[in-house]
Amino acid sequence: MTAETVSTLIQSIARRLDAVGIEDAGIDARLLLRSAFGWTAAQQLGQLLDPPPAIYLDDLESMVLRRETREPLQYITGSTEFYRRNFTVNESVLIPRPETEQLVVQTLAFVRERGIENPRIADICTGSGAIAVSLALELSAAEVHATDISSAALGVAQQNADDLNAELDIYEGNLLDPLSGAFDVIVSNPPYILASVMPSLQAEVTREPSLALDGGNDGLDVIRPLFEGILARLKPTNSAAYIEIDPPIEDAVLVLALATFPRAGISLLSDLAGLTRCVSIEHA
Ligand SMILES: C[S@@+](CC[C@H](N)C(=O)[O-])C[C@H]1O[C@@H](n2cnc3c(N)ncnc32)[C@H](O)[C@@H]1O
Repeated sequence: MTAETVSTLIQSIARRLDAVGIEDAGIDARLLLRSAFGWTAAQQLGQLLDPPPAIYLDDLESMVLRRETREPLQYITGSTEFYRRNFTVNESVLIPRPETEQLVVQTLAFVRERGIENPRIADICTGSGAIAVSLALELSAAEVHATDISSAALGVAQQNADDLNAELDIYEGNLLDPLSGAFDVIVSNPPYILASVMPSLQAEVTREPSLALDGGNDGLDVIRPLFEGILARLKPTNSAAYIEIDPPIEDAVLVLALATFPRAGISLLSDLAGLTRCVSIEHA
């Protein structure tokens, strides 16, 4: 990899990424270069017309080669931002999405509006721990528990909790099975993608663990037992559960929620794009 300046180097990487169908090739080129060189955005801007530092060019080339195979940018750089903090990610975990921040926002609003002083909170299917860590840091008086069936994912969650100084109780196991006692709030972003859609996912998404995505034939394979677990562990009053879903399963989830939680207020919440993103289950 050779180039006269940082700017021409970015342009040549962008052309390579564009050629393999990457949408925001220019942005990815800049982010890969920053990550390989250990630069901030401001450092990159200030050195656009300088020659690139030769010692990092081999590292950058191997990162570009990985991205050309449509490996997600975040797996290559090793991190992503969620709720204003940086989280480590690798191929063992789903890359946390901006729309999932809504589960954090809903939980914070509920706990504060209801004046719950020391909430017991559970994040089921925690993956990288992004939701659980964010809640533990935003609610210092909360007791936050997180579960996942993947031990590799939980290794990443523990690392994120340690790096960000969040106090979490982390358990390996099926849904709520490892937990005891009753909870004020239960949140979860479970696998919910229809099995029929799995083969047509974007190239980058196919590199994420199918255990994190595949919701079975009707998308509810994990959500059905999750609702049973929530029914058993959610406090009967002054409590809430927020579960991420998507539009193809919203009708089925609504029917299931109304049947499982007859005493709760049930609603479907939309994300900023206006698409159904969460089922809200709240007890007065
Ligand atoms: C969609 S990812 C969500 C990860 C993270 N909470 C987030 O929002 O970025 C779903 C997670 O559920 C986990 N999982 C799948 N089946 C499970 C089960 N039966 N019990 C517990 N965790 C499960 C997967 O390992 C994966 O980490």
